[in-house]
Amino acid sequence: MESPPPLNRPVLGIETSCDETAAAVLAPDGAVLAEAVLSQVEHARFGGVVPEVAARAHLHHLPGLVRDVMARAGVAMADLGGVAASTGPGLIGGLIVGSGLGKGVALAAGLPFVAVNHLEAHALTARLTDGTAFPYLLLLVSGGHCQCVAVDGVGRYRRLGGTVDDAVGEAFDKVGKLLGLPWPGGPHVERLAAGGDPARHAFPRPMLRRPGCDFSFSGLKTAVAQAVARLPGGALPRAEAADVAAGFQAAVADVMADRAAHALALMPEAVALVAAGGVAANGAVRAALAGAAARHGVAMVAPPLRLCGDNAVMVAWAGIERLRLGLADPLDTAPRPRWPLDAMRGA
Ligand code: KG4
Ligand code: ZN
Repeated sequence: MESPPPLNRPVLGIETSCDETAAAVLAPDGAVLAEAVLSQVEHARFGGVVPEVAARAHLHHLPGLVRDVMARAGVAMADLGGVAASTGPGLIGGLIVGSGLGKGVALAAGLPFVAVNHLEAHALTARLTDGTAFPYLLLLVSGGHCQCVAVDGVGRYRRLGGTVDDAVGEAFDKVGKLLGLPWPGGPHVERLAAGGDPARHAFPRPMLRRPGCDFSFSGLKTAVAQAVARLPGGALPRAEAADVAAGFQAAVADVMADRAAHALALMPEAVALVAAGGVAANGAVRAALAGAAARHGVAMVAPPLRLCGDNAVMVAWAGIERLRLGLADPLDTAPRPRWPLDAMRGA
């Protein structure tokens, strides 16, 4: 096989799959030349992401954001080596906006386009931040995803297990709502939990010690709702809410450690345990995963907090990994609301 020409120009990355509008320009070695993330605040009053509102906000903000990162990077369109845009999975309106703009730039400047799988972008971030080598175990824990994935190479993924009901970030967000916290609840639950007693409520640990590495969070969420309902009515005193948050977070952390251990047993060749997605920002979850990794004698890698949530640095990086392998995509590649990692094309 002929090897692809070396990538020696910067890559533009675009992220619009959910409620973050983001753009980034990375040098071919991964150095971040400029990046920007706009978290849409439009959804807070609805208590969740409204797809049509998100799509309009992407359309409104993205062109200016791309211009801004290009200017700050000091890079003209013609200087780019490629354009990478999240093309799935996610909310279709946003995916159309982001991939459409990316394709437009690629067409106008005669550049290769990479249709990035958003989950692959999360999965490969550890290679940018820590130079993690394949193969590794990925725990993808976010608002929409909760799965254990064997990462064998770029585009080469095997799903080992995942949630049978809610994603873990969704559980954090629902518990946040029960406790009257702003949306999205995850970071607020973590902050509140810091002042609480994790042992006050004996919450269930769903799936603990079950074979395989599936997750389930609906029972835990129900237990939290019942505990909140048993507390005195009216506005929940902060100390009470803190105990609930701490108990919930401790249960999640225990489940994570157990599931990660099971997944590592299913993938003895893994050289590292990589945590990715918004929930990987949670200190208790990180600590639990670090414990599981240490017990298995593998490295634990979690990207810096700002690269855990949705961002365009990871999208540009996934583009770089693919372009290095000569894996560009045709401009008529359609955005995909559903796009499982193990249905990817790889090298
Ligand atoms: O990866 P992400 O930005 O978006 C996707 O879902 O793809 O993840 C967002 C999720 C939300 O559910 C949010 O509440 C959760 O990650 N999250 C956290 C924390 N920071 C973000 N959950 C727990 N603790 C945190 N510190
Ligand atoms: Zn994400």
